[in-house]
Amino acid sequence: MHNKARILSTAQNASHLKGRIEANQDQQTDLNHWIFSLLSVQEGWKVLELCCGTGAQTTYLAEKVGPKGHIWALDISVEALEHIDKTLGKQYLNRITTMEVDLDNFSGQLARRGFVEPCFDLIFCSYGLYYCSNIQETLAEIERWLRPNGKIAIVGPFGPNNEPLYDILHKNGVVISEYVMHTSKTFMTFDVVPWASEKFEHVSIHPLVNPVVWESAETLMKYWKNSTFYDETKLDSVRFHAEKHFRQAGRFVNEKWVMLLVAEHKRRLR
Ligand SMILES: C[S@@+](CC[C@H](N)C(=O)[O-])C[C@H]1O[C@@H](n2cnc3c(N)ncnc32)[C@H](O)[C@@H]1O
Repeated sequence: MHNKARILSTAQNASHLKGRIEANQDQQTDLNHWIFSLLSVQEGWKVLELCCGTGAQTTYLAEKVGPKGHIWALDISVEALEHIDKTLGKQYLNRITTMEVDLDNFSGQLARRGFVEPCFDLIFCSYGLYYCSNIQETLAEIERWLRPNGKIAIVGPFGPNNEPLYDILHKNGVVISEYVMHTSKTFMTFDVVPWASEKFEHVSIHPLVNPVVWESAETLMKYWKNSTFYDETKLDSVRFHAEKHFRQAGRFVNEKWVMLLVAEHKRRLR
């Protein structure tokens, strides 16, 4: 399979997503708690959530908008959406609609279902926007669906994200593709920040450095095996060095560098 196709296939696989979430349980700051302590979401809001995955942020959004608000949670993975539908608490049943939609065609799908631009108070996307094929087009569409006083919130990694992990992988000959490196390090700063600064009057950027502790080589291996940069030809070598590391140090601390960008007040056309 072509490298990018293989990466997308892993990215769109809900079991891999669950595996990564499980391996990252032991994080210093709870990512979702952190996001929603910073992002103000009002009761009654209509929210579009892109790349909702298994719903790690969807229930937070539903809690915030209350019974009069609504979340349309979109993802390309049916398995991920089924997970949300199955695990949804009764109190959220009427507040969340899951929709199987490709990011590359989300506007067309919304229009086909009767939505009319602009209709959302908040458009939210965590760890997913970089999977679209044309980021400038997707960002422009996102802007069009946003009400004039609405807000966009995008969460993603940046800078030296995952560096301790990449380090051990590189030392064992794992080559991480440019595309994965872009999603992990430069997408937020090179693509999202300049776009938001040009299109919105208020942009706030919240960075977080979040150490994640792995107590065993199996947990490190579990995270890597479920990631978009897994390379099974290097499995034995990485496992050998990971086990050696744990025998010597007892634990491994990976570092997630995360950015929450919130953009509001669309600039008027000049
Ligand atoms: C890393 S997960 C993030 C899930 C969730 N927002 C979170 O932070 O836990 C990325 C999600 O993007 C979805 N995705 C990838 N490519 C997509 C596409 N072209 N259209 C819609 N969703 C896509 C995947 O299925 C996956 O659920």
